[in-house]
Amino acid sequence: MSPDEAKQRAAAAALDYVEPGMKLGLGTGSTAARFVALLGEKVAAGLSVVGVPTSQATHAQASALGIPLTTLEETPALDLVIDGADELDGALQLIKGGGGALLREKIVAASASRMLVIADSSKRVARLGAFPLPVEIVPFGFGSTRLRLERACAALGLAGEITPRRRARSLFLTDGGHYILDCAFGAIPDAERLAAHLHAVPGVVEHGLFLGLAAVALVAGPDGVETLRR
Ligand code: A5P
Repeated sequence: MSPDEAKQRAAAAALDYVEPGMKLGLGTGSTAARFVALLGEKVAAGLSVVGVPTSQATHAQASALGIPLTTLEETPALDLVIDGADELDGALQLIKGGGGALLREKIVAASASRMLVIADSSKRVARLGAFPLPVEIVPFGFGSTRLRLERACAALGLAGEITPRRRARSLFLTDGGHYILDCAFGAIPDAERLAAHLHAVPGVVEHGLFLGLAAVALVAGPDGVETLRR
């Protein structure tokens, strides 16, 4: 099974978790986009749900499909968020933000009663960290924030390269107008400790460690769709 087929199967399996009347968080990325496309078909066939998109890209896709949308101002508590991941471990700890939407993704995930992760089996890891951890920072003082981030991580023994994300010739800008530093630490031995250290660095807006948020993961691979629960 190709990764694309696996993403499609995970996305299709997620539809079983959607019930009429639900308030949904709609994730970002290629796997979440497959789910949104399938949800659009259900809505066109009469399913009544409302969604909060986690990015401008997902907003554009969902509204083009006619999925009713709302905001966290109008609808502050959601039933379920369905989103992809760059990595997930056996405890359903995640790295997210490969698509740059980690801040809105985390706010939406924190607003939902349940987070459902959909992924192909290449995303499953024994320990987080092979995928560079995205850290979103404000543009003001960016060089200083990067230096202080390096020092804070080095104090934890995490000394990998920290690279500003670029798009073409410019620095990548998130939907919130921030920059992203991709932190190639390698294996992260204590994600909770790292998360606390990252949040203590002034200038850091959010990081891509999603800890204690995902309740269920649907991981599709050659043997079918495996359901992991926290
Ligand atoms: C977006 O910022 C990310 O968190 C995505 O959810 C993550 O990168 C997974 O994307 P794919 O489904 O495209 O692999």
